[in-house]
Amino acid sequence: MIIAIDGPAGSGKSTVAKLLAQKLGLAYVDTGATYRLVAWRALQNGTPLDSVDALRTVAAETLRNVELRDGANLTFDGSVIGPEIRTPEVSEATSIVSAHPEVRSVVVPEQRRLVPAAGAVVEGRDIGTVVWPDADLKVYLDASAEVRMSRRTDQHGSSDGIAREVTERDERDARRPVGAMRPADDAMLIDTSSVPAEDVVARIVKLLHPAPPGRLYAVLRAILAFLLRTLFRLEVEGVENIPKHGSAILAPNHRSLIDHFVVAALTKRQVWFMGKAELFKSRMGARLLTALGAFPVKRGRPDRASLQRCLELLRDGQLVGIYPEGTRRPDSRFEEVEEGFAYIAVRSGAPIVPIGLSGTQAVFPTGKKLPRIVKIRVVVGKPFRLIAQTSGVLPRTKLKEATAHAQERLSVVMNAVEPL
Ligand code: C5P
Repeated sequence: MIIAIDGPAGSGKSTVAKLLAQKLGLAYVDTGATYRLVAWRALQNGTPLDSVDALRTVAAETLRNVELRDGANLTFDGSVIGPEIRTPEVSEATSIVSAHPEVRSVVVPEQRRLVPAAGAVVEGRDIGTVVWPDADLKVYLDASAEVRMSRRTDQHGSSDGIAREVTERDERDARRPVGAMRPADDAMLIDTSSVPAEDVVARIVKLLHPAPPGRLYAVLRAILAFLLRTLFRLEVEGVENIPKHGSAILAPNHRSLIDHFVVAALTKRQVWFMGKAELFKSRMGARLLTALGAFPVKRGRPDRASLQRCLELLRDGQLVGIYPEGTRRPDSRFEEVEEGFAYIAVRSGAPIVPIGLSGTQAVFPTGKKLPRIVKIRVVVGKPFRLIAQTSGVLPRTKLKEATAHAQERLSVVMNAVEPL
């Protein structure tokens, strides 16, 4: 089990990663410390911070002697590394040293070596993107600039140079060409500005272990999956793109009433869907639909309660199916993404998984009572993310941009699967 925790300075990474590792009984690997150690040694030796060849040598010679002790403490030459690598000068130098791709190519394999076979919580800037792209769960922590600076000030006991250190370092870390600090496409984004570390840890644990599907869901899903595979010769490409852990928005094109079922058949994890409020009118209907993972949405106007429910489910580590087109559009190509869809993605910080369905449209031809047995093909695309803003006022222009971005990314998958 590898859990990647990335994010900028002062986002709460270290506190959260350490607590999480303790809670899960996993090792904790602080990759920032490896770069810090290289920078600290370079400063001690008087190695110029732009001398790439010399820095490579320092990195190789230093990290060869770094080990992980007791699953949490990095040692250098047998002694636990102390606060000497955490001064603002070393932080600044570290960011300069770590921007050299040649240095990173020496450091990254050493970081991988430090991760025990049993797994770890690994903290850094590029764990989810470069060091461990196959991590079981990827989390990207962020917080407002003010909160991050005040956290760093508390750590150092003084605010001298902190503002510069935090902003310049973050910018350099985000801009470098290799191993840039950014959320992986399939990472969950958590804003820690006003959330205590223990609560962030609890949220991550939930992402790892969400409530499992009920028995009725599991049984019906298995039957449906069987029928779809045998009768409808369901063919699926890219199913591995549906995450095994953590929340995600599954985004299918919507051509038929059976689309929910096809999406549900793709994974044993429960997929939650919004259903028209009218379907929930009778008590029996409501019970059945709820057991099947549906929750009501009033159509034709913004429905706050259902948006909230969606965000809650995503916060709790669930998979939520949302049709980006908003409603069923038989006989049309994938053309228009609704702003409400992008809103949920931006507000939840969850990745989006495009799902192109083809063939479902022909199952219930208009005017016919019986379903037609046709071949159904599904292409699951790679996850992607929109800008995330989980709190504060979301400006209209930002939402519009996010919607256009979703449209562009989703169309690629949908247009490849839908006949022209
Ligand atoms: O996390 P920490 O503040 O200890 O990291 C110090 C510096 O090390 C970062 O500012 C960044 O430049 C570098 N770093 C990195 N990649 C990582 C971890 C840290 O480039 N995975």
